[in-house]
This record gives sequence, C-alpha cells and structure tokens, in this order.
Amino acid sequence: MTTSHAIKIKDLNYTYPDGTSALKGVSFNMGKGEKVALIGPNGAGKSTLILHLNGIISGGSGQVFVQGQEVCKKNLKAVRSMVGIVFQDPEDQLFSPTVFDDVAFGPLNMGIAEEGVRERVAQALEDVRLAGFEERSAHHMSYGEKKRAALATVLSMRPDIVVLDEPSSNLDPANRRQVIELLSSMDRTMLIATHDLELALDVCTKGILLDSGKIVAAGGLDDILGDESLMTGHNLEVPLSVRSGFRKDGQ
Ligand SMILES: Nc1ncnc2c1ncn2[C@@H]1O[C@H](COP(=O)(O)OP(=O)(O)OP(=O)(O)O)[C@@H](O)[C@H]1O
Ligand SMILES: [Mg+2]
Repeated sequence: MTTSHAIKIKDLNYTYPDGTSALKGVSFNMGKGEKVALIGPNGAGKSTLILHLNGIISGGSGQVFVQGQEVCKKNLKAVRSMVGIVFQDPEDQLFSPTVFDDVAFGPLNMGIAEEGVRERVAQALEDVRLAGFEERSAHHMSYGEKKRAALATVLSMRPDIVVLDEPSSNLDPANRRQVIELLSSMDRTMLIATHDLELALDVCTKGILLDSGKIVAAGGLDDILGDESLMTGHNLEVPLSVRSGFRKDGQ
C-alpha cells in the first residue's frame, strides 16, 4: 500500500528535453515525520528529483506518491496543498510586489480567511527573521533575505511535507543557525537537498546519496557521512564534526 508513506517514489526516470538524463531508476520511501537529507555532487539530480514531488517536472517514467496520492495532473491541487517546496533559487519563488503578498499568496489560495492569513504571514516572517519586511519588494533585497522570504512563502502554508533545496546557501551564520533551529523544531516530514552537511546532521536522521541520477546510498545519515571512501568517491567529504568525533550519541 502507498498510504503508509509520506513520500513513495518508484523507479523514477527523467530525461530533459535536450537529452540530459537526470534521474535513472530512483526509488525510495519516506515515512511520516521523517527528516531526510538528500546529498550528492553538483549535477547529481537532487533538484530534478525535488521538482517531481509536486509535479513541476513530470513526463518521465515511474511513479511518485504523496501521502498515498499519485502525483499526476488530476491530483496536482491536492498534492500541492500537502507538499511545500522551497526552490534552490529564490527568484523562482518570489513574484509579488511585496514580501507580504508573496507570503500571503499560498494561504489566500488555500481559502484561508484574512485574519488567519495575516497571522500566518506574521509567524512565517518572524520564523525567518524578516519581521518588518512586509512592504518591501523582494527584488530589492539581498540574496540571503530573498532565500529567507522564499522559505516564508512555504512556511505560511504549513504543509505536511516540507521539501527544501539548499535552504542555507548564502545565509550568514546567525540566519543559517536560525533556519537550522527552525527546521529542527518543526514536526513535519522533511526532505532537504543540501551541500551543508553540518545542517543535514543537525536536522536529519536519514540520508540519501544521489550521484549521476542514481541512489548510491540510503540509510542512517551518520553512517553515510562517516563513510570516507563513499563520500570522497562522490565528490563529497566527511564533515569536520564527524571526522573530529565531535558528534557522538546523536549530538
Ligand atoms: N533545464 C535543464 N535542461 C537540461 N538539463 C538540465 C536542466 N536542469 C538540470 N539539468 C541537468 O540535469 C542534471 C541534474 O541537475 P540538477 O539540477 O537536478 O542537479 P543537482 O543535484 O540539483 O545539482 P546542484 O548541487 O548543482 O544543485 C545535470 O546534469 C544538469 O546539467
Ligand atoms: Mg540543485
């Protein structure tokens, strides 16, 4: 049965129109409430995989299920209410004249009443430390501020499943730490594609290592990240905290 999994992917293959084969037979399941790090070198297929989770990319072979519903045209509305994706590039997520409008867009579309929308926007902006930016235009914000605004547009929808593509890139240390604490404290199913392996260790317990469109390892994140030959064999390195023994007993 598919209903017991938050996400189920069966033999997913995807080739871009220019002939680039980006996903080759990817299969995995995620249980409800699991936090999984999706790691792999540049060009591994992480973003391509993520964009399949709410049907932004489709048309290859294989199947994707979200909470038992197949990601296909007739289920797109339901799927998109369950899965919130924070894109790698915030420019892809911000299109309204003001930050308020961008963050309110999702909840308004879900039919939430105005007062509820205001409350969600305020909370989401506070969570990403952008309170006071409501009337600003995202076009005139720094890249790190845009990243956090993009995250807020998904947080305000409070989806069951949160999927993040490089959530910490371009963030200063204090804002990165805030995002780590926020993601750690959220009781949601989460899939996080990241090169920030320390973030992955702080937030996730499981890992998937993707390379050249294929899963090459899946399981406990500590085991994957601590495997030197596996890591170096895929353009990665064992994070310093693991190498130095700083992380023990799940710290
Ligand atoms: N629009 C596109 N058209 C053609 N090929 C693409 C397109 N987008 C990505 N690719 C190719 O698909 C493969 C997977 O790319 P993808 O962006 O999914 O990798 P990634 O793991 O997210 O990498 P990164 O760590 O750099 O973000 C790469 O070979 C890439 O060049
Ligand atoms: Mg990517």
